[in-house]
Amino acid sequence: MAEVVIVPTPADAGALVADEIVRLVQSRPDAVLGLATGSTPLPVYEALRPRLDGIDVSRVRGFALDEYVGIDPQHPESYRSVITREVVEPLGLDPRLIHTPNGALETIAHAGEDYEAAIAEAGGVDLQILGIGTSGHIGFNEPGSSFASRTRVKTLIEQTRVDNARFFDSIDDVPMHCITQGLGTILRARHLFLLAFGEAKAEAIAGAVEGPVTASLPGSAIQLHEHVTVVVDEAAASRLRHADYYRYTYAHKPAWQGL
Ligand code: F6R
Repeated sequence: MAEVVIVPTPADAGALVADEIVRLVQSRPDAVLGLATGSTPLPVYEALRPRLDGIDVSRVRGFALDEYVGIDPQHPESYRSVITREVVEPLGLDPRLIHTPNGALETIAHAGEDYEAAIAEAGGVDLQILGIGTSGHIGFNEPGSSFASRTRVKTLIEQTRVDNARFFDSIDDVPMHCITQGLGTILRARHLFLLAFGEAKAEAIAGAVEGPVTASLPGSAIQLHEHVTVVVDEAAASRLRHADYYRYTYAHKPAWQGL
């Protein structure tokens, strides 16, 4: 099962994941990172900045999980812009090596296949950062998504558009469609880090970690993966039945084991 690490604050979670990314990049300078957008991964990117100082990141590669369909890539809330602003520029990565799915309408029919081919050509994702939506989605795989799915166009559920309206002037500006890595794509990454903070994520986390494996809660797909680290604060952990066991396990983790 997933290893669950309960930390006091999002900043602690950021530090923990950032340390792991630094170890990866030091051992593999052309590591392939799976990048998430939204609020959840921000503490990771913030913690990475000072840690990557003096480390050669010129060969680090990256693939974002998703993008809105039909959004102008220059729009400040396109995931291309978000990844550029929050990850590529502050961390000094080479923008040519950091990819987002192409949401342009003209090429959308084969954009999913193209993205899958690019990930395969890079040799797959080494470390995937994931957030989770209140609907239980990972990437933008809304409830009902196939566990075998690859990168493709999905329709956002209303709740996700409501949740993401904070990034736009109004909910009407939140695109209806997205292009997202599939659950099958995400499951092929070598190490998954699922992060969640706050009470609003507690139910989704409990379902993903301890609930039945079901397409109705896409985050539960993590139970099918052999190397998953779930990093949550106390509020997001508040509905986990075995929280005490996770704390006990982490407190007694053998030093040699690593994450
Ligand atoms: C973002 C993504 C989504 C978010 C999720 C949580 O690339 O794929 O699954 O991780 O919607 O969003 P936040 O972190 O803003 O609560």
